[in-house]
Amino acid sequence: MARFTLPRDLYHGKGSMEILKTFKGERAMVCVGGGSMKKFGFLDKIVGYLQEAGMEVRLFEGIEPDPSVDTVMKGAAAMAEFQPDWIVAVGGGSPIDAAKAMWIKYEYPEITFEQMCVVFGIPELRKKARFCAIPSTSGTATEVTAFAVITDYEKGIKYPLADFEITPDVAIVDPDLAETMPKKLVAHTGMDAMTHAVEAYVSTANCDFTNPLAIGAIKMIQSDLVDSYNGDMDKRASMHNAQCLAGMAFSNALLGIVHSMAHKTGAIFEDYGAHIIHGAANAMYLPKVIAFNAKDPTAKARYGQIADEMKLGGANDDEKVANLIAYLRKMNDDLNIPQCIKHYGADSYPCEQGFVPEEVFLARLPEIAKNAIGDACTGSNPRQPSQEEMEKLFKCCYYDLEVDF
Ligand SMILES: NC(=O)c1ccc[n+]([C@@H]2O[C@H](COP(=O)([O-])OP(=O)(O)OC[C@H]3O[C@@H](n4cnc5c(N)ncnc54)[C@H](O)[C@@H]3O)[C@@H](O)[C@H]2O)c1
Ligand SMILES: [Zn+2]
Repeated sequence: MARFTLPRDLYHGKGSMEILKTFKGERAMVCVGGGSMKKFGFLDKIVGYLQEAGMEVRLFEGIEPDPSVDTVMKGAAAMAEFQPDWIVAVGGGSPIDAAKAMWIKYEYPEITFEQMCVVFGIPELRKKARFCAIPSTSGTATEVTAFAVITDYEKGIKYPLADFEITPDVAIVDPDLAETMPKKLVAHTGMDAMTHAVEAYVSTANCDFTNPLAIGAIKMIQSDLVDSYNGDMDKRASMHNAQCLAGMAFSNALLGIVHSMAHKTGAIFEDYGAHIIHGAANAMYLPKVIAFNAKDPTAKARYGQIADEMKLGGANDDEKVANLIAYLRKMNDDLNIPQCIKHYGADSYPCEQGFVPEEVFLARLPEIAKNAIGDACTGSNPRQPSQEEMEKLFKCCYYDLEVDF
């Protein structure tokens, strides 16, 4: 038996945030990031709509990108004091994910972060509050997913929390919020969405319910991402929906080792001055992982199907896989994303020598590879890598080498 779970309600289209006026409750805690939602006036609108609904509103502001365990604990304490019956999280994946984790801690004050990380081990929520998510980036789709990614900065590791309990009750996919994204954010979040859809399609947990969502998302992202990056706002709106479809797919089909690798490299080089941004990590690793996974015959055939749906040509599955890899690398070029860690600058743009020194990468490689194998996303990858294979794969991702094993 398999399970397919999505939010009960999804409101979409321009101006759909207005639905907040109809919410029933007494107290809403609005969780938000560093200031973009305030700056562009979305936060005021949200607060206004919730007040129109008769609710007392309190803000939890300043949730940082790649949120920490510490922030989660602080937010949960604020919730414990305010006792909201609605949690409304707005922004990119970071504030929404943090709010999901705060929600768990608010409902179960005794729970530890380690207990939250037990995959499909989160106790029953909604005894105190319901959850509404309003995304402002077009990538993570956390508004419809059963996941939240929280970073333990002491270990330099991202932990995905996973349970359908944290699938939001309501998602509001309003393209107005995506319009203010800077180009770089469009590029990174868009390739994150592409990775979600591709990984969901080849995941060992894919099914008839997830496959059409994944393929639909892939075709929309192929058609719209680069134009959205270059400023086409109709395509930007379409990308907002596409990333959400990808999220519906991967929340139920799970992901693969592109994400395992991204989770374990995002914050591990922080002492050298930067993060490898989630979407950029995925964009660099996806072509490598496709080459690795395609050694599995079932996965190869499924990548071939993706290439067919994208109309990339190819006389056989080997050619189709090669065309898919080439297409994704071209997208990275078009979006000004480097092809490998070695060329990943501290500002995320391609450069001759990136911010991760070679000797540091090599010294940390065994540990990173071990952590990636142990990530929650590895289980549903079509091919299970050994420690040696994972290290080789990471080397290909560092130096941009061809994957032939
Ligand atoms: N829960 C999931 O299912 C899931 C899936 C993939 C990734 N993630 C996680 O989500 C996080 C990344 O989220 P993200 O990529 O959405 O970015 P983010 O939330 O980290 O935001 C990045 C930056 O963009 C700004 N920003 C957001 N929306 C904006 C807008 N509309 N206009 C202008 N600026 C805006 C933010 O203020 C922030 O500075 C990572 O921690 C990643 O691991 C979660
Ligand atoms: Zn992702």
